[in-house]
Amino acid sequence: MIRQLLPGPVACWDSFDDHRPAAVHRAEAASVRGATPRRRQEFANGRYCAHRALRRLGVPAAAVPAGDRGAPRWPDAVVGSITHCRGYTAAAVARRTDVVSLGIDAEPHRPLPEDVLEFVARPDERSRVRELLAARPGVHWDRLLFSAKESVYKTWYPVTGRFLGFQEAEVVIDPVAGTFRALVPDTGAAGPGLPGALAGRWEVGNDLVVTAIAVPAPEGER
Ligand SMILES: CC(C)(COP(=O)(O)OP(=O)(O)OC[C@H]1O[C@@H](n2cnc3c(N)ncnc32)[C@H](O)[C@@H]1OP(=O)(O)O)[C@@H](O)C(=O)NCCC(=O)NCCS
Repeated sequence: MIRQLLPGPVACWDSFDDHRPAAVHRAEAASVRGATPRRRQEFANGRYCAHRALRRLGVPAAAVPAGDRGAPRWPDAVVGSITHCRGYTAAAVARRTDVVSLGIDAEPHRPLPEDVLEFVARPDERSRVRELLAARPGVHWDRLLFSAKESVYKTWYPVTGRFLGFQEAEVVIDPVAGTFRALVPDTGAAGPGLPGALAGRWEVGNDLVVTAIAVPAPEGER
């Protein structure tokens, strides 16, 4: 699913099999030592997709341990992102010369609990979500907003090294074009190469909501 949301230079791998026996590198295993079997399986599923995506990109095989605040530590010349939810796992990677940062997120296509919507959405976002839910009830726009914000964070953190609260970004969804824009007030100043607004794409299918952002590298660096 993730492939269609990302531009050509991004290599992706996804899987609908939650129970694949997947081996992880020793350097990766340290990240989930002592975790529950379910968490270890989820982590291994993500690394399975990450290794295959790296191979598809043509990058030598490498461990992808967890780094600061859980962000995957990709090989130096690579940026990437991992997501997993029940029934779906995906990884996306690109060369730094092509993409500054990227973030992907998958969620079950289900309504978001009301208290979670209160927590993650700004007042304007809540109003727009309610309008969309009334006008186009086939999509759980509340869950889509949440997923878009997770993709924003996964794009933002590797560049800035800073936490970003849910209320700090404002996401505007285009319900027809399958796109969204995320405005983060000080994004331009936050890190090299991050534009003032992050542009993403979304898709609903297979009982999932999937969102993705890829920030292209400036022309001269490609
Ligand atoms: C980290 C977070 C984004 C993960 O999202 P999630 O929907 O719970 O889970 P997903 O399965 O989609 O993603 C998990 C993967 O995200 C990646 N990840 C975790 N922390 C990350 C970070 N700081 N930066 C980038 N990627 C990160 C990891 O690869 C992780 O999987 P792994 O631990 O198996 O390697 C979320 O738990 C979180 O902490 N959110 C709070 C911050 C936020 O979203 N702010 C919104 C700003 S608008």
